[in-house]
Amino acid sequence: MGESAGPQRAGTKSAQLRAYLLGLIEEQLRPHDKMPTERELAETFGVTRLTVRRALDQLGYEGRVYRTQGAGTFVSEPRIAKSVELTSFTDDMRARGLMPGSQSTRIVEVTAGAEVGAQLGISPRDAVAHIYRVRTADGEPMCLENTYIPASLAPDLARRPLEGSLYQTLVENYGLRIDKAEQSIHATVLDGEMAQALGVPEFSPAFKVSRVAYDARSRRIEYAESVYRADRYSYDFVIYRTP
Ligand code: GLP
Repeated sequence: MGESAGPQRAGTKSAQLRAYLLGLIEEQLRPHDKMPTERELAETFGVTRLTVRRALDQLGYEGRVYRTQGAGTFVSEPRIAKSVELTSFTDDMRARGLMPGSQSTRIVEVTAGAEVGAQLGISPRDAVAHIYRVRTADGEPMCLENTYIPASLAPDLARRPLEGSLYQTLVENYGLRIDKAEQSIHATVLDGEMAQALGVPEFSPAFKVSRVAYDARSRRIEYAESVYRADRYSYDFVIYRTP
């Protein structure tokens, strides 16, 4: 014995055993195929059955194999990679069975200024379309949104009526498709003006979501600050344990 349960050093018997088992899983066996028995593996690698069991347990924790009482160890189905989805307000509301909408929409072309310029990676003097909207679900105010789009990427956006989804407008009119975003969410309280726009009491809690969105060419397409009512909105994620 004398082997620890900790991370295996390359070259040790348990490291060789693990490499062999991973090779079997990845190259030779298919999901639900049976793995060799503990006894076979112990003999082949000249290790104890306890060592084999630990290696199989570890692969079990990592989701690579599963055990069935009395029947043995089998290869797991590969995990379906699914990340937190990048959605628009319109997508979010539709997914909840609600009708998305906007009120009090104002679109103006302004210079970016220091903060928005830094977020979009452009000069503070560059032009951006600034879109202010109160986003609604089934007519009820949910979220206040200030969105900034570089005018160089979406010329004349500020002169175009915006009724439905901004993301759809960007695709349809400018060929700009959001591919990924960096997003941060933090807690805040609503000042009087924001609270009034959302129809809730002053100092109500809210989530502030800041997003810098990129297209597939890594161009920064959007900087947005969205303030959601905390009483009507939740953030739901599926999260996975890493192996
Ligand atoms: C969400 C995002 C915003 C984005 C908006 C687009 O609210 N937080 O960054 O601008 O969706 O929504 P839509 O396409 O419905 O206008």
